[in-house]
Amino acid sequence: MRNLLSMEHLTNDEILEILKRAAEFENGEQPSLSRSYNIANLFFEPSTRTKTSFEMAERKVGCTVIPFDAGFSSALKGETMYDTVKTLEMIGMDAVVIRAKEDEYYNELLEGINVAVVNAGDGAGQHPSQCLLDLYTIHKEFERFEGLNVTIAGDISHSRVAKSNATALRKLGVNVRFLCPPEWSGEFEAHHSWDELIEDSDVVMLLRIQHERHIVNKSFSKESYHEQYGLTFEREARMKKGAIIMHPAPVNRDVEITSELVECERSRIFEAVRNGVFVRMAILETILKGRE
Ligand code: CP
Repeated sequence: MRNLLSMEHLTNDEILEILKRAAEFENGEQPSLSRSYNIANLFFEPSTRTKTSFEMAERKVGCTVIPFDAGFSSALKGETMYDTVKTLEMIGMDAVVIRAKEDEYYNELLEGINVAVVNAGDGAGQHPSQCLLDLYTIHKEFERFEGLNVTIAGDISHSRVAKSNATALRKLGVNVRFLCPPEWSGEFEAHHSWDELIEDSDVVMLLRIQHERHIVNKSFSKESYHEQYGLTFEREARMKKGAIIMHPAPVNRDVEITSELVECERSRIFEAVRNGVFVRMAILETILKGRE
């Protein structure tokens, strides 16, 4: 694996290898890169978790993190993504982690760029590192994928997490169902009532409403969305024994989920953030070793 761009490109074996390595890191095993690599994190969209988690993972695997501030970069003067990444390659970067608002921005980097590219989110396209940490969190809980029922609920059409997870979970034998307002289902067939899904879900995965990607926000008040599509106390009480709640975050509290449920016994929302560091260590080590 020389880059991580989309879950479409990963085989089940590659996914399971990354999860296995992440578990080894969680159990205290040390990274095994032969040298220190230079990495820059290019975040052209806001991020708390992904950027900080990658930085932590980069330091833990022994890389040197070279600061890059997208908000003060020459991208603001019109420099292309290709020219930005090529420039960083010439300065001495070995890898770049990129989040950008354009779907598949990485296509323009496939020819002529020699640094490793890790996609940290492309528009409404893919979010592979989030997907891998979600897979890790699910596998840690159930020790399997085959036969699980995972319900992904919320702003499906704008969600890169929904697309990445649907791709990977289905390849791994999970029964993935979607729940959302009719106009938000995008390319997927979706349910529109929790009644059909809540009682047999092993995982309820909630998605943030991405107001920034809605061209016309005509749909819902926060209260009516919560009432129809949110995870309420009443719905959580109907979840089966052992079922868990996930959300990639940031969470709109009392919209996608009742605020008090964010840290309830079933919730793995913050646990997944912790898992993300081990998973990103495994991603970076795999890619950088693949280039040694
Ligand atoms: N889950 C996720 O991608 O969060 P950030 O936008 O804070 O990185």
